[in-house]
Amino acid sequence: MGYGKFELVWSLSILGLAFFCSAFDPVDNYLIDCGSDRNTSVGDRVFVSDKFALRFLSTPQDVLANTALKSITSSDDSPLYQTARIFTESSKYTFPIRQQGRHWIRLYFFPFAYGSYSMSTAKFSVSTERHVLLSDFNVNKASVKEFSVNVTSDSLVITFTPSSSSLAFLNAIEVVSVPDQLITDDASTVAPSEKFQGLFSQALETVVRVNMGGPTVSFENDTLWRTWVPDQSFLVNKNGVKNVSNIAAVKYSSGVATPDIAPRTVYGTATQMDATDPNSNFNVTWEFDVDPGFHYLVRFHFCDVVSKALNTLYFNVYIDSWIVAPDMDLSTLSVNTLAVPYYKDFVTVSTVSNKLRVSIGPSTDVQDIYPNAILNGLEIMKMNNSMGSLTGVDLQVTSSNSKKNVGVIVGVSIGVAIAVGLAVIFFFMCRKRKRMALLGHSKAWSPFSINGGNSHTMGSKCSNGTTASIASNYGYRIPFLAVQEATNNFDENWVIGIGGFGKVYKGTLSDGTKVAVKRGNPRSQQGLAEFQTEIEMLSQFRHRHLVSLIGYCDEKNEMILIYEYMENGTLKSHLYGSGLPSLGWKERLEICVGSARGLHYLHTGYAKAVIHRDVKSANILLDENLMAKVADFGLSKTGPEIDQTHVSTAVKGSFGYLDPEYFRRQQLTEKSDVYSFGVVLFEVLCARPVIDPTLPREMVNLAEWAMKWQKKGQLEQIIDSTLVGKIRPDSLRKFGETAEKCLADFGVDRPSMGDVLWNLEYALQLQEAVIQGDPEDNSTNMIGELSPQINNFNNVDTAVSGFEVSSVDDLSGVSMSRVFSQLVKSEGR
Ligand SMILES: *[C@@H]1O[C@H](CO)[C@@H](O)[C@H](O)[C@H]1NC(C)=O
Ligand SMILES: *[C@@H]1O[C@H](CO)[C@@H](O)[C@H](O)[C@H]1NC(C)=O
Ligand SMILES: *[C@@H]1O[C@H](CO)[C@@H](O)[C@H](O)[C@H]1NC(C)=O
Ligand SMILES: *[C@@H]1O[C@H](CO)[C@@H](O)[C@H](O)[C@H]1NC(C)=O
Ligand SMILES: *[C@@H]1O[C@H](CO)[C@@H](O)[C@H](O)[C@H]1NC(C)=O
Ligand SMILES: *[C@@H]1O[C@H](CO)[C@@H](O)[C@H](O)[C@H]1NC(C)=O
Repeated sequence: MGYGKFELVWSLSILGLAFFCSAFDPVDNYLIDCGSDRNTSVGDRVFVSDKFALRFLSTPQDVLANTALKSITSSDDSPLYQTARIFTESSKYTFPIRQQGRHWIRLYFFPFAYGSYSMSTAKFSVSTERHVLLSDFNVNKASVKEFSVNVTSDSLVITFTPSSSSLAFLNAIEVVSVPDQLITDDASTVAPSEKFQGLFSQALETVVRVNMGGPTVSFENDTLWRTWVPDQSFLVNKNGVKNVSNIAAVKYSSGVATPDIAPRTVYGTATQMDATDPNSNFNVTWEFDVDPGFHYLVRFHFCDVVSKALNTLYFNVYIDSWIVAPDMDLSTLSVNTLAVPYYKDFVTVSTVSNKLRVSIGPSTDVQDIYPNAILNGLEIMKMNNSMGSLTGVDLQVTSSNSKKNVGVIVGVSIGVAIAVGLAVIFFFMCRKRKRMALLGHSKAWSPFSINGGNSHTMGSKCSNGTTASIASNYGYRIPFLAVQEATNNFDENWVIGIGGFGKVYKGTLSDGTKVAVKRGNPRSQQGLAEFQTEIEMLSQFRHRHLVSLIGYCDEKNEMILIYEYMENGTLKSHLYGSGLPSLGWKERLEICVGSARGLHYLHTGYAKAVIHRDVKSANILLDENLMAKVADFGLSKTGPEIDQTHVSTAVKGSFGYLDPEYFRRQQLTEKSDVYSFGVVLFEVLCARPVIDPTLPREMVNLAEWAMKWQKKGQLEQIIDSTLVGKIRPDSLRKFGETAEKCLADFGVDRPSMGDVLWNLEYALQLQEAVIQGDPEDNSTNMIGELSPQINNFNNVDTAVSGFEVSSVDDLSGVSMSRVFSQLVKSEGR
């Protein structure tokens, strides 16, 4: 087939269009229906059969796939989705470019099953010679990705590269010229407000294109085949707005905007502030999901189709918290005519949040004007980073991707790939039977499948080239839908806690497993870091005294963690302030022992110590049997390397529990956790808040107050009144001494968590000795057996197993290999 013939077809397909809307006539206009053996009409355009496009392709022998359209729902029923081309190796399209300048690249994806090829689990990268468009991209529903790049050579090469042992696929592709005036070189920056130059060299990815106050405008009503979606789903508050529509009023002729900038159907409708009285003053706000770490080109479209007279509409326009257009008067922007389309471009600061907000609100500086504000259309386009990438992964990495296993665990700050792998295997081996059944039967979150959904998964949320997917390698991803279902759509009545990170809901998975669902506050960047830490930590540490992570969800930029549900809430709530019945001394000691064991495991159970950093009674949770589990690893840090003695870091933690040495020297060791745990011990004993400003001055700080009495040897004076007369003096003495040592001024003088654990065990035994013979308590007095180990408590394992025969799945203080040998033992039972 000759080139000339091919050209003819492109021109023919344009011809039909020319009649339709005196449209822009793209010089380059490649439309290919991949995998299809016949041409496909979509609206007024024809996507040619794959067989006419083979000359552009470096691997024409690739697999062509065809579906019978069975699984395609009505909203996704584009004829382009019936076939696909599957790339099993890196492959290039090379398109001759007749007119340099900006071009659309639109990629159509609709994964379906084809023989042994699973497109919904495919992972791949797409790049041009200069820009990375997609990396480790996975898509599980119909979607169109739209990019625009300025082509400055006479060809455009688009490379599809499967991630290691995966495949790439494509249902259709468009490479089409864009009118030069659509994206000019200039825009304004947001903060400070200055001129921005350099849009020419930018690759842009369309994040969202919105028709405010009106319905979807389909590509058939747009001269550049763009689709505009309604704004309803982005409105932060649907009250206080109204739709306006006056399409006939739009006057293009006198304005800067042309129908190519945005169609009449976009400019002719608007979302308007619905002011109820002359004093109304509120913003109308829309919120969009974005990837942090990138700049965005935000284009506002305005057209005053609401005013009855000139100079009667003044309003402010904001991006996030910045005012970008104060006291905007649309009637002065054109030659004193109303309803003239106008647009304005802004380049955002590099975002730290995963949400971008756009607001309009009435001007308050202009007097005697009825409050009002409008917006007609909005486009948000992601800009490439300094490495020319739209994903954070740079070009070299992407193009060498086919051989190397790029993207695996790049973002994991602790733990090498092997350890993660082990932890994952470990997780599946040591889950309880119930959990096993859940994994087996629930397709909702199969362990190793990646359920990316759209381009806004965590995986692509990289602020720079050094991090890639944080989460994609920890397989417990749970679909957002399942989380919604489990929590009755985040029912406020199901909230069981609120923290800095967000709200915690109780919930029930479809198999009946009770869970606690922690939903991150999407706007907090610190939250994102803590979210990642927590997933990393909990994926690596499995222990019966650490709260288990059941899964997480990062779809739609959510940060949701799903934990095992702890029936009895926090230790704190059982000590004071909640009216719950108070716990007995033995129960309290057991809780202390359990949490000490969890912390001891954190400090020693892994090659590198992990420091919790936020040990407090609110982070110790109790299950239905009052068994303690340490929770909340959001602030955790791995401890010193062998050759260092501390981790230097900004002070974090909770007031009243903070290690004064850490505070002074900003140096973090495991001993900081020991200090905080000492405070918890006194809290358990005295059942009062660690800081209580309502008390007389010398009593405000529990640690100081309790230490004063401990040093006088009169600790019994300040214990919880419900315990008076119920603690055996020996047990109390041991307990008091242990807590005192934990609170030593200098970390070196504090015991290790292993020592603390042992001492608490001892205090528990001393207590049990007194109630021996109590018919209600069958526990055995083991003090006799304990003695030989008293001088040998470095080996905590021995001590622990001496006490607790049932602890086969308790992994205190054992190395990874020990974990496995123990595991094998317990499996054998
Ligand atoms: C499909 O398009 C090709 C190339 O543009 C053209 O040669 C062919 O005649 C078309 N086939 C049909 C059935 O329209
Ligand atoms: C494309 O880039 C070239 C070189 O930077 C510039 O001269 C040209 O105006 C650009 N065209 C568009 C449409 O951005
Ligand atoms: C505005 O129009 C959309 C559809 O285009 C509709 O869903 C929405 O309810 C309307 N809003 C108001 C406030 O009338
Ligand atoms: C294009 O817009 C007009 C006017 O709103 C509407 O009547 C028509 O149905 C639209 N066509 C398509 C294909 O959306
Ligand atoms: C509107 O939003 C801006 C930016 O967030 C804020 O500074 C301003 O106070 C808001 N105005 C009102 C009335 O809420
Ligand atoms: C986008 O990539 C181009 C190279 O194609 C580069 O010149 C430009 O600086 C990049 N943009 C940003 C914002 O770094």
